Parts: sequence; structure tokens; C-alpha cells
Amino acid sequence: MKIAIGNDHAATDLKFIIKEYVEGMGHEVINFGTDDNESCDYPAYGKKVGEAVVNGEADCGILICGTGVGISIAANKVKGVRAAVCSDVATAHLVKEHNNANIIAFGARIVGVELAKDIVKTYLEAEFEGGRHQRRIDMIHDIEN
Ligand code: RB5
Repeated sequence: MKIAIGNDHAATDLKFIIKEYVEGMGHEVINFGTDDNESCDYPAYGKKVGEAVVNGEADCGILICGTGVGISIAANKVKGVRAAVCSDVATAHLVKEHNNANIIAFGARIVGVELAKDIVKTYLEAEFEGGRHQRRIDMIHDIEN
């Protein structure tokens, strides 16, 4: 898969770790985040990853900021994005199975490195269940429109 990744300054170190981890799983990673630790504004990176996912440049996205919250809120303003903050593996598979989240987000100041890897692996390997969940996603898209 092609995976877009984005981050702000709070998550640069974790971004590089996750990028290498995901590449090690055989995926291609497109890096839209900042590569240094200078203070910057997370909405710009949420927007870039959201647009890459919606326009098909990437199959899905990973967003990391301090908490995962701000950057996911920004991404969710891009029409068609379903970005979900995950701080545990149960949420990581449910957001794919039930919500068909096309972006996951987490916080570099919230989760440790090994948990972040488990969250990413769980999300990437989970599958959308469709059925009643598709109806609910359609209702979300109706709100957007
Ligand atoms: C940056 O200090 C911090 O506010 C940001 O990384 C994120 O946690 C916002 O939601």
C-alpha cells in the first residue's frame, strides 16, 4: 500500500521510527510531515495527508502530533477524510472494521514507541466489515454534503 504520513514538531522522532517500521512491512511511505523539531503548525500537515488520501495519491494515512487530536481535527475538515485517534490496539482495529477510517492518528506524547507500532500494524491489517457500518458511513457523508 501507499501510506501518507504527517507530523508536527512534537512527533518528528516517532514519525521516523514509524516510517521505517511501515516500510519494513513492505509498504511505500509518502512523507508529508516536518522533518525537524522546530515549532510548527499541525493543521498544515493534517490537510496535506487528508488531501493525499482523498485524491488517491495514498491508500491511507498516519498522522502524529503531541496528542494526535489537533492534527486529526484538521484532517477531518478535508471532505472524505475519516481520521480516528487511536491510543490502544482495540480502537485501532475497530476504526477500520466499523468506521473504515482512512487515517489513523496518535500522540507522540501519549503512546510509547512499541504501542505506536502495534497500533499501526493492527490498523493496517484490519479489514472493513461493511454492512450496517457502510450505512452509517454513508450517513456521515450525507452530513458532509
Ligand atoms: C504542539 O505543542 C501540540 O499542541 C500539538 O502537537 C498537538 O498535540 C495538538 O493537538
